[in-house]
Amino acid sequence: MTAALLDGKTLAAQLRLQLRQQIETQMAQGQAPPGLAVIIVGEDPASQIYVRHKRTACTEIGILSTVHILPTATPESELLTLLDQLNENQQIHGILVQLPLPAHINTQTVLERIHPHKDVDGFHPYNVGRLVLRMPLLRSCTPKGIMTLLQKNNIPLTGQDAVIIGQSNIVGRPMALELLAARCTITVCHSRTRDLSAKVRQADILVVAIGQAEFVHGDWLKPGAVVIDVGMNRLPDGRLVGDVHGASAIEKASWITPVPGGVGPMTIASLLENTVQAAYSNHSPS
Ligand code: GUN
Repeated sequence: MTAALLDGKTLAAQLRLQLRQQIETQMAQGQAPPGLAVIIVGEDPASQIYVRHKRTACTEIGILSTVHILPTATPESELLTLLDQLNENQQIHGILVQLPLPAHINTQTVLERIHPHKDVDGFHPYNVGRLVLRMPLLRSCTPKGIMTLLQKNNIPLTGQDAVIIGQSNIVGRPMALELLAARCTITVCHSRTRDLSAKVRQADILVVAIGQAEFVHGDWLKPGAVVIDVGMNRLPDGRLVGDVHGASAIEKASWITPVPGGVGPMTIASLLENTVQAAYSNHSPS
């Protein structure tokens, strides 16, 4: 079997077009454009690249984005004050604090300071809790993008065995909740999991988000598995590879996300969707 590609790049472009039209319609009716505030603390080069991609996508579809670049030594209190101001600002509908933050800043304190209705990353405990209860409001972008990719490609989910490798707050945990809500049976694996390859062999749907280049080999896969590779790893020779060994996995899987061009563009498309949702749904903060 040779896997078909789950093409996130093309689907994300279609979603951006729809969102642009939605924004144009709203503005023709006298609404303001959606506003996204992005905060970046420090000079992490990867974060700067991610933020640039996010802002380019915003501009393309008509979201007004502002970026706040703060020095690494910024005290936590100063960041919290900025969040209070952005929470109050009527032109700002979404707030995103790029992670990771410098070690002296408590990430959870910062994420909880964002108004839940402006939390376009879906990281606030309020939004995570709503997902737990199957009442999602603003959903974490990478898992949401993956669900859209699966659903738009008509991949059956109900009753499937889904295995997630990685238990992070950003991907693994919300991914498990998304797939559970879609009525999959879930296994979440992490660094203490025993006999990982045996768990992977059970998977009808496999999501890998561990940040280790080509960690999962095609030999591990159940024939016909759907493989979602969240990894983006730069090899010493300059190549960009996922957490899955693509060449061997493609021989065994039925569907696989390419790296790049799979999950990455869908994450950004979900951020845009969340920002439009935050701007135009009735739950805007009072
Ligand atoms: N750092 C890595 N991924 C993400 C993400 O999805 N959102 C934010 N804010 N920071 C990140």
